[in-house]
Amino acid sequence: MSTAKHLIAPSVLAADFANLQRDVTMVNESEADWFHIDIMDGVFVPNISFGFPVMQAIAKHAQKPLDVHLMIVDPDRYLQLCKDSGAAVITVHYEACTHLHRTLAAIKELGCKAGVALNPHTPVSLLKDIIHDLDLVCLMSVNPGFGGQKFIEHTYSKIVELRALAAGVNDALLIEIDGGVGAANADKLLAAGADVLVAGNSVFAAQDPKAAIQQLKTAGLPTQSA
Ligand code: DX5
Ligand code: ZN
Repeated sequence: MSTAKHLIAPSVLAADFANLQRDVTMVNESEADWFHIDIMDGVFVPNISFGFPVMQAIAKHAQKPLDVHLMIVDPDRYLQLCKDSGAAVITVHYEACTHLHRTLAAIKELGCKAGVALNPHTPVSLLKDIIHDLDLVCLMSVNPGFGGQKFIEHTYSKIVELRALAAGVNDALLIEIDGGVGAANADKLLAAGADVLVAGNSVFAAQDPKAAIQQLKTAGLPTQSA
């Protein structure tokens, strides 16, 4: 077992939907910390993934918290259902919330951790007046909507800027990175200040998904001498 402080959240979007229970069991048995659940509406993003009935089926078998990423317009309509479907963390998009403060309060009222996701073009500085109310910020390192995309390098500087913005105001803030994350960039993301690594393709398309998770979990740690 590693002594890593960072969390790994495999994204079920990249699982085999015809073998969901098998893939959920694999994550249960791995060193992963959370399940990352991507809900898309075909409006906020140009794709539709799956909805709450599928999430409920995942929740029935998942033995780790569900980290739900809502890529939908007007998420307020679905917060209660999201909680009832098993969410531990609910993340809404900054770009989809006109009354973000109210939405975050509603998420906390339900007893969930509240997160905000930023699209690649959305500056971290826009969070200045809400940073103290956040449990998590998800920095999108691809344009949301699809798995398997190329990591956007500008993300590193956003992590550093976000950590500085939160310093002294919200030191418990979790910084999550979503999109194009894998063994090739995990060390650098952690060194920049990331706390949670979401990984879809780099886990589920790997020959040995559990080993891929373990590699991400031990990233950033000094290599052990034999
Ligand atoms: C993208 C989703 C991601 C996606 C990541 O819109 O929010 O969570 O599943 O997939 P990879 O790791 O394959 O880029
Ligand atoms: Zn996601």
